Amino acid sequence: MTVSAAARIVLDRDFTIGEVPRRLFGSFVEHMGRCVYTGVYEPGHPTADARGFRGDVLELVRELGPTVVRYPGGNFVSGYAWEDGIGPVADRPRRLDAAWHSVETNAFGLHEFMDWAHAAGVEPMYAVNLGTRGVDDARRLVEYANHPGGTALSDLRAANGAPDPFGIRLWCLGNELDGPWQLGARTAAEYGRIANETAKAMRMVDDAIELVAVGSSGSGMPTFGDWERVVLEHCYDEVDYLSLHAYHQEEDGDVGSFLATALDMDAFIESVAAIADGVRARGRHAKRMMLSFDEWNVWYRLGRDGPDQLDRVSESWREHPALIEDRYGVTDAVVVGTMLNSLLRHSDRVRIANQAQLVNVIAPIRTDEGGAAWRQSIFWPFARMAAHARGRVLRASVASDRYATARFGDADLVDVAATWSEEDGCVTLFLANRGLDEGADVDVVLRGFDAVGVGLAEVLDAPEGGDRSTANDAGAERVGMRRLDAVDLADGAVRVRLPALSWAIVGIAVLSA
Ligand code: AHR
Repeated sequence: MTVSAAARIVLDRDFTIGEVPRRLFGSFVEHMGRCVYTGVYEPGHPTADARGFRGDVLELVRELGPTVVRYPGGNFVSGYAWEDGIGPVADRPRRLDAAWHSVETNAFGLHEFMDWAHAAGVEPMYAVNLGTRGVDDARRLVEYANHPGGTALSDLRAANGAPDPFGIRLWCLGNELDGPWQLGARTAAEYGRIANETAKAMRMVDDAIELVAVGSSGSGMPTFGDWERVVLEHCYDEVDYLSLHAYHQEEDGDVGSFLATALDMDAFIESVAAIADGVRARGRHAKRMMLSFDEWNVWYRLGRDGPDQLDRVSESWREHPALIEDRYGVTDAVVVGTMLNSLLRHSDRVRIANQAQLVNVIAPIRTDEGGAAWRQSIFWPFARMAAHARGRVLRASVASDRYATARFGDADLVDVAATWSEEDGCVTLFLANRGLDEGADVDVVLRGFDAVGVGLAEVLDAPEGGDRSTANDAGAERVGMRRLDAVDLADGAVRVRLPALSWAIVGIAVLSA
């Protein structure tokens, strides 16, 4: 007999974390592998428009629903000269991209990205190069992009086809400069100084911009903690956000720990917030530093059987080689759903988050060059949450059966985040059952609401005949959302039965009591 896990969730309309920050559902387009070339951009593809933007990819991006897209890197940006990507395409230089051992044609640059972002309906988030370049380059880029006109740089933008300023508000002050792999990596003090001076110079050109300082590339970095403290001691008043990056994978068959990844994410966010608050208190700074989790995802960096994927990068200099095109299964989708839950639960501090990346490179959307585009399993929790996490985030009280993990101690079998949109009259639950073999009975108690009906109820789990590794391929999307019938509403209480290893969305129509 299969045993069921049990969980009880209490939601109260008066216990909220805050408004859902729409920028939490961000993504990332880097000049890496086939994310740009043959991903979002492929002139000559049957669905491409006159600008070379793949129409099939744009359609999937709109369905996925990212709100903000970080560009152009990633490690790529630390050796990039933005001027290479402007002006007539035929005149743009071909360059070696040392970060990914690739040849960069520069056919896609700032103007193409802005046009694409407009077509996709996303806000741009632009990273400046603080690896091989610095203050002056960043200042000039802001002038080129955002100044209305009447100066050499802003007039050059107009001459290049964009008379109206791009008005880019969100800027990243470099990328992962704590990492020895980064071109121009720095010590925390070196980076803190240059971040402060660059931020000042950029704001002198446009005081409406928002700036993200580089935090640690991961909580496992040897400099983690000190990096955040020292960087913020140098630039606290000049920046608005501090970044976090995290990638996770199943290691050595330890699926229990992998499924509990969100606990690691919770701890990472809470640690960085505590460090930022320490700097704030010691420096007597008025504002509270917000966080930008601007790279996160599942990434089988160590492969499923050992070798580091990045070891395979340095084969030969090629245009858009296929790099880290992970194929995601059901387990990965459940983990991605719980990572999004962690972000929502911390939305009082994390105001921006970007799943890395958008197309082909560890991505929810995959393409074949000249061929199809399709949704990976991890597409679904992102798409559903981006569309349905609306209004306010509710602070859920959860009592769940637990299981032991090797890396993160005991973890709840049932993971949840919940939002309440007063406007839509809907409480929406985002639920995961981490139990590999057992279903879960989830009782939801709603306080301060009159539950009057069940709305959208869908679940993602292993498809018939498949298992937890089943993944989607071109023309064969086997993993996706199906209707969840096991949702009962009686006397204002809701009972949901989740299948084993699943991620679900359940909407409850409510009247405010
Ligand atoms: O997203 C892939 C890479 O991971 C990014 O370029 C880098 O910032 C991170 O290490």
